[in-house]
Amino acid sequence: MKNASGESFAKIILIGEHAVVYGQPAIALPVKSIRLTASLTTNTEQIIQSSFYAGSLHAAAGTNFAGIADLISALLKHFNASNQGFTLTIDSALPPERGMGSSAACATAVVRAFYAAFDEPLSRAQLLSWTATSEHAIHGNPSGLDAATTSADRPQWFVKGQPPIPIQFPKNGTLVIADTGIAGQTKVAVGAVAQHLTDDPTATTASIEAIGQATVFAAKALAEDDLQALGTQMDHAQGQLKALGVSNDALNRLIATAKENGALGAKLTGSGQGGCMIALAFDATQATQIRDALTQAGATATWQYDFSDERTN
Ligand code: PMV
Repeated sequence: MKNASGESFAKIILIGEHAVVYGQPAIALPVKSIRLTASLTTNTEQIIQSSFYAGSLHAAAGTNFAGIADLISALLKHFNASNQGFTLTIDSALPPERGMGSSAACATAVVRAFYAAFDEPLSRAQLLSWTATSEHAIHGNPSGLDAATTSADRPQWFVKGQPPIPIQFPKNGTLVIADTGIAGQTKVAVGAVAQHLTDDPTATTASIEAIGQATVFAAKALAEDDLQALGTQMDHAQGQLKALGVSNDALNRLIATAKENGALGAKLTGSGQGGCMIALAFDATQATQIRDALTQAGATATWQYDFSDERTN
């Protein structure tokens, strides 16, 4: 084994969350300015250093790092190196439990670091197979969207059960992301939608289909660099997510603030009931203004990125 490192990105869902659980499409974006790095150096013991867990690999069983620890043990076995000593340092700018794909990003960077350390080429299919295993252990029944996006360099068009399709970032526009400071509750939020579906199948099915339709129009708007249309579809989706009961006061306040400050569209991102919201701005100057207003309105952290910086060609 040699010293090596692996990298991954945060992800956000641009549009389509919740409806994606029921077979509708979603679009997720890698946020390359919010990174996670896993670095491996040789050592006599097997040591993890991170903000989520610090200690020996062995002692991680039963902690919230257990899923990644199992992944590491499986990787060591794969490389016939179960007794190999190492220090794995994980450096993450992703807030955990905010719908940014923290666990999938961690798994992605760890797999990349081990393959690099053992000088073995890693295909995308192999990477996704490794991360699927750890995401299953951590989340139960993940859609695969997080793993596909935290390891991608382009937006992903995603339909459950199908391979994700990379699409292009638009040429212009800036996205603002703001954290409510409240941990998102994916399981609770997904359960709330399922309950709505049982209680009022007609209205709930209509909301789910409307989000799917907004996602189709959003993809068209992305392809045509039509930011106004993209913003409109984000607003439509937010209206339906509200109807599904997955927004909350903190999200609604930040979304209203973004709109009052000229956002072309604003919505929750991820599971809702906490977590983050996103707002679309024409350019970086407008985004900075929206970002300041969101901070004033109580956002605990904000990020922004220009689509043009994210384009790979
Ligand atoms: O909050 P996140 O990033 O885990 O997103 C959840 C997205 C849902 O559509 C609500 C659930 C899912 O499995 O796709």
